[in-house]
Amino acid sequence: MQARFSFAGLALAALPSLLFAVGCKAGHPGKVSTTSITWIKHHVTVGGKRDRNPLPSTPATIECGKEAFGSYCAACHGRDGQNTGVPFAASIDPPVPLLSSRSVQDYTDGQLKRVIESGIAPSGMPASKGILSEEEIWEIVIYIRHLPPAGSLGEPKAYSGDEYGDTSTSPSRP
Ligand code: HEC
Repeated sequence: MQARFSFAGLALAALPSLLFAVGCKAGHPGKVSTTSITWIKHHVTVGGKRDRNPLPSTPATIECGKEAFGSYCAACHGRDGQNTGVPFAASIDPPVPLLSSRSVQDYTDGQLKRVIESGIAPSGMPASKGILSEEEIWEIVIYIRHLPPAGSLGEPKAYSGDEYGDTSTSPSRP
């Protein structure tokens, strides 16, 4: 708690210079994260940075990851990893992040695996170690790298009651 608070303070204190940096060098958005909590997680607290995904990114592994994600993650992250149909996503604290966002995509595959294995205490993000196999976790990492357009898969089963989700509101429905 204490640590979180001071990290936030650090980020706030650095804001004016960040705005300045962004205003002057629009081509370097990566610099914005260097004084934030995101930076600390990416560089200090979340390990596994160099762990390589042993699986190739193929249509088959993406599909397997999508299936596992649909079973274990979609209730909170939406089937698309972008919170579609998750009623509490924005209102819980911390909110459920968009897995398509820069802050998530900037993790290495190995770090994503660690996040999934260990969860994020004390937030709502649960640990998957012992529930999902190593292979399933790596497949999910591949799926996170190949997320479909937001809303394209409809709602999670848990909320729609329909295995394939309600795609009636999908912007990308043919
Ligand atoms: C019970 C709800 C819930 C479930 C189930 C869940 N998550 Fe999360 N997830 C969260 C919340 C809440 C956060 C935000 C945590 C935070 O910022 O501290 C999060 C954050 C994340 C992040 C971003 C972590 C970061 O440091 O930015 C990733 C990646 C992620 N979840 C992947 C998954 C995957 C993959 C699964 C399934 C194996 C999953 N989650 C299951 C609630 C959930």
